Amino acid sequence: MKKLVVLTGAGMSAESGISTFRDAGGLWEKYPVEEVATPEGWQKNPALVLDFYNQRRKQLLDSKPNEGHKQLVELEKYFDIHIVTQNVDNLHERAGSSKVLHLHGELMKVRSTGYGQEVFDVDKAKPEINVGDLCPKGYQLRPHIVWFGESVPEIENAAEIVSQTDVLVIIGTSLQVYPAAGLVNYAKRGIPVFLIDPNEVAVNNDVHIIRKGASEGIWELAKILLEL
Ligand code: APR
Repeated sequence: MKKLVVLTGAGMSAESGISTFRDAGGLWEKYPVEEVATPEGWQKNPALVLDFYNQRRKQLLDSKPNEGHKQLVELEKYFDIHIVTQNVDNLHERAGSSKVLHLHGELMKVRSTGYGQEVFDVDKAKPEINVGDLCPKGYQLRPHIVWFGESVPEIENAAEIVSQTDVLVIIGTSLQVYPAAGLVNYAKRGIPVFLIDPNEVAVNNDVHIIRKGASEGIWELAKILLEL
């Protein structure tokens, strides 16, 4: 089976009703990114940061995988698919994708701010995390999210996965955030690279662009790939 890596961003989940970051009306237009998604913001006002992610988690619990997520699962019949996502939602997993690597953390996990940074699942029945919610060792819990200015622990694993693939597909990311955006450069030279996005994304020329939303675009991609 050919290997196919899918690099996804916020646009992958847009049809599930989850806001993107940089589109008009996106999250970073409504919230000051430095206050809710940086270590400095956390130091300054942890309650505000927790509230921002509590809202994201609530929105996620009210959302479902869309047709695009489901089609990527279907494509596992034909390809050995590995998803590398910048998204912190769990919609790929809930759709049934078998291999998903989260570059920027996961909304449904929290971690200790103490030494060791242990990670815990968030209880779906009590999805809010507040100041004063502690890990068993007594340290405040924080979102298990990679904030701006923090290292991306999974980047090397992701680069290795991208370097092995026979086909690369990029879906719903503005490719503005590094190091994630740089992953594209780890693909072997000459392999087919597809980009699905309804808007223009700056990327080099030898990419097959499908200018459509995720679910329609993946449908078109499937037709192309299965006729290959
Ligand atoms: N289908 C596919 N793509 C879409 C759709 C859709 N229905 N709707 C919007 N898009 C595209 C937009 O055109 C844009 O190119 O999704 C992309 C979203 O870009 P961003 O909002 O910048 O999101 P992303 O690239 O995932 O952001 C990267 O930045 O804020 C951080 O950590 C956060 O993981 C995030 C990272």
